[in-house]
Amino acid sequence: MRRVFAPGRVNLIGEHTDYSGGLVLPMAIQLGTTVEFEPGGDIVHLVSADEPLPAVTPIEVADVAADEPAWARLVAAVVAEVGPSVGGQGSVSTTLPIGAGLSSSASLEVAVALALGFEGSALELALLCQRAERRAWGVPCGIMDQLASAAGAAGHALLIDCTTNSAIPVAIPEEADILAVHSGQTRTLAGSAYADRRAACEQAAAIIGPLRDASPADLARIDDPVVRSRARHVVNESARTLAFVEALHGGELESAGRLMTESHASLRDDFEVSTPILDALVDRLAQTSGVLGVRLTGAGFGGCVVVLCERGAVTEGWRLMPSDGANAEEM
Ligand code: GLA
Repeated sequence: MRRVFAPGRVNLIGEHTDYSGGLVLPMAIQLGTTVEFEPGGDIVHLVSADEPLPAVTPIEVADVAADEPAWARLVAAVVAEVGPSVGGQGSVSTTLPIGAGLSSSASLEVAVALALGFEGSALELALLCQRAERRAWGVPCGIMDQLASAAGAAGHALLIDCTTNSAIPVAIPEEADILAVHSGQTRTLAGSAYADRRAACEQAAAIIGPLRDASPADLARIDDPVVRSRARHVVNESARTLAFVEALHGGELESAGRLMTESHASLRDDFEVSTPILDALVDRLAQTSGVLGVRLTGAGFGGCVVVLCERGAVTEGWRLMPSDGANAEEM
């Protein structure tokens, strides 16, 4: 029997920058997905506590896109990418809210890949799982979620440079709380909005070059006002991410919090991935005494907000602890 745990993640800052080669700062969290798996046979058969139907896939996957239900398609895509020589039977359970911006799907992908016996570096694991998500659901996602789940470091967030895929651990201050509060709006990325945002960033990069290297002055060369706003968010957000890391290093939590709140405003006004429900939640929490910063986390369109606050200032939601990355044990 093999037991695998793969964490979800909360992104502290650096949103919608990964697929433009920018900077992100996710933190692997104590909530995640567990797979218990008994290898054998030539079929992968997984049941889930959260899904009425099992995922059943031959190890020689015929057609990932044809698999139903949606979670089975994700499992099939991971099987196809790992290419295991044996299948097996097992069960999946998660402590993550599903579809809430805390990377329930990436943690499932990483856990299944390890349960199937994947061997390789954390980056190879993350890249494999990113390909699986694209293959299963057609979501042109970046590398952030899978790499945070695969490479998390206890007590730390990861500053990932999505041009080189290098990940530097950044210590999380113990004197503050980091929480996720659910807006109650669940969402899926399989619709067109995520792909549209990515396409706009690519359009901008075709005019001014890689957004990672662009300066605010370059933005004036983009005529289309919508494309220009999308690019403005990405350029400013990578700068905010670096400033946030510097603020953490300097113990300046109030400055760090302000950068988070600015990030939310930019995601709302320039990138337009917030919703009235998320904005109302952010405004309410921002007015709570002891809250230093609050912003939507993950792709947006619903899901959770992330809060940085003084110890105990917010009592709702999940108090998140920085966790190790994915691990597998033989039992
Ligand atoms: C989703 C994607 C990530 C990233 C975020 C937005 O979580 O999977 O790659 O693009 O949205 O920052």
